[in-house]
Amino acid sequence: MPPGGGQADPYRVWLSEVMLQQTTVAAVRAYFERFTALWPTVQDLAAADDAQVMAEWAGLGYYARARNLLACARAAAAMGGFPTTRDGLRALPGIGSYTSAAIAAIAHDAPETVVDGNVERVVARLFAVETPLPAAKPDLVALAETLTPATRPGDYAQAMMDLGATICTPRNPACGICPLIHDCDARAAGIAASLPRKVPK
Ligand code: ADE
Repeated sequence: MPPGGGQADPYRVWLSEVMLQQTTVAAVRAYFERFTALWPTVQDLAAADDAQVMAEWAGLGYYARARNLLACARAAAAMGGFPTTRDGLRALPGIGSYTSAAIAAIAHDAPETVVDGNVERVVARLFAVETPLPAAKPDLVALAETLTPATRPGDYAQAMMDLGATICTPRNPACGICPLIHDCDARAAGIAASLPRKVPK
C-alpha cells in the first residue's frame, strides 16, 4: 500500500482484505497477484466466469468467500465502482464492519478505526484490559477509537494490523523490539503474553 494516504485502489484493498480473512499474508500473496493479473479492475472481475473464479480460488478455502466475492464485485460494478464511505461499503454483500473500515481507511484515508483480531490484541495489551473476549470487544473498539489519529489514519490502521501480526503476536510477543513498549500497560504489569483473555469455549 502506498504510504501517506489515499492512493490505494479500493478494488485491490477489498480483494486483499477478503482473501486475508482467516488466511495468512504468505498464503494469500500468489493468489492476489494472479487475481489482479487476470482481473485488474472490479469491472473485469464482475464480468468473469464463475467457474474460473472458483477454480482460481481453489486452495484458499472457505468457498463461501469466493461466492461472496463475485456477488460483491457485481454489485460494486453495477454502482460504477466501490462506494467511498464506510456506510456505503457496508451495504455491499459480504462487506461487514471490519472490511468497510479497512477499505475506507486504507484506500481513502478516512478516519475509521479498523479492529480485527490483531488490533484487539494490541489494544487489550496497551490498556491491560483483563476482561475476557468476547465480552471485552465493545470496550476494545472504544479504546481503539481513542487512538485513531486525524492525520494518516490509513497508515495508522495498517501499522496497527502489522504490529499485531508481526510483533504483538498471540504467543511470545517481541516486546523488546516493540515501538510501543513504553506505552504498554500489560508489559509494565508483566502480563502481555496472557492478554487478551478468552472465555474457554
Ligand atoms: N490481515 C488482514 N488485513 C490485513 C492488512 N491490511 N494488513 C496485514 N494483515 C492483514
